[in-house]
Formats: sequence, C-alpha cells, structure tokens
Amino acid sequence: MLVRLIYASEATAAITPVVLDDILRNSRQYNQEHGITGVLCFSGTAFVQVLEGDRGAVSKLYNRIVKDGRHQRVELLEFSEISERHFAGWTMGQVNLAKINPAILLRYLPRAEFDPYSCSSQAILKLVQELIATAAVNK
Ligand SMILES: Cc1cc2nc3c(=O)[nH]c(=O)nc-3n(C[C@H](O)[C@H](O)[C@H](O)COP(=O)(O)O)c2cc1C
Repeated sequence: MLVRLIYASEATAAITPVVLDDILRNSRQYNQEHGITGVLCFSGTAFVQVLEGDRGAVSKLYNRIVKDGRHQRVELLEFSEISERHFAGWTMGQVNLAKINPAILLRYLPRAEFDPYSCSSQAILKLVQELIATAAVNK
C-alpha cells in the first residue's frame, strides 16, 4: 500500500553544502533500493521532506530520520494513503528554498519567509509541484 509522509524539521548545526550533499547521496541510494521517492526542501534553517512509498518502508525510514542528530523538532505534517505518487521520477529531489522567487512562496504560504511549522501539508505539496513544473527541483 502506497503512502505519503510529509514532515518539517529544524537544522541543528550549520548544514553546509557538503553535509547536504552527503544526506542526498546516501538517501538516493537507500531510497532507490527501498522503492521510496520524494523531495527534500531546505531553506537554510528548516527542512521539509516528502516521502512516498510502501507504508512499511516509509515508516521505517521516517523512524531513522527522526533520530538523525543533524536536525531537531521533527513535526509530522501528513501521513496518508495515496493512489499514485507525485514524485515517481525522484529518488530524492532537492529544492533550495532560499533561491525560490518570493512571489512563488507567497502564492501558497502565509508569508514569503518559509516557516513549515505554520504551513499546511497541502500548501507545501502544491508549492513543490509548482517548483517541479518550473524545473526548480534538482534530481
Ligand atoms: C533532513 C534529512 C533527510 C533525510 N532523508 C533521508 C532519506 O530520504 N533517505 C535516507 O536513506 N536517509 C535520509 N536521511 C539520513 C537518515 O537520517 C540516516 O542518517 C540514514 O538513513 C542512515 O541511518 P543509520 O545511521 O541508522 O544507518 C536524512 C537525514 C536528514 C537530516
């Protein structure tokens, strides 16, 4: 059974491009092996990640991610059954939210600053889908 999980978290230490690359490289390998797809958004201080896949596989990965010391204040925004994936082509797409045009953020979010703790999961999903349509997501 397919599910989608969306969570928000705060980076603990300075997440340098090297650390982020390391997370993404490891994620892509693990996710491919376990049929997990999704997107990781980073604003410079906050993460939002969308994970899609088998319910058991997504739950197991989420439990590992929650324990990761590179972030904290992990808050579950959505866990739902889905009939199809939105991000089938991404073992883990990457979005740098610091580089997104504020007008695109404002279309979906209350303010142009990205504060995932005040966003609905639907707004986040729509934002990420628009970013994919405008090629702002890196494979
Ligand atoms: C924000 C964030 C997102 C992550 N996303 C994934 C992911 O999609 N897939 C993955 O395998 N690991 C991901 N990780 C890394 C895991 O938390 C963990 O380090 C990795 O699975 C290795 O786990 P282990 O040390 O228990 O073997 C992420 C880490 C962070 C901080």
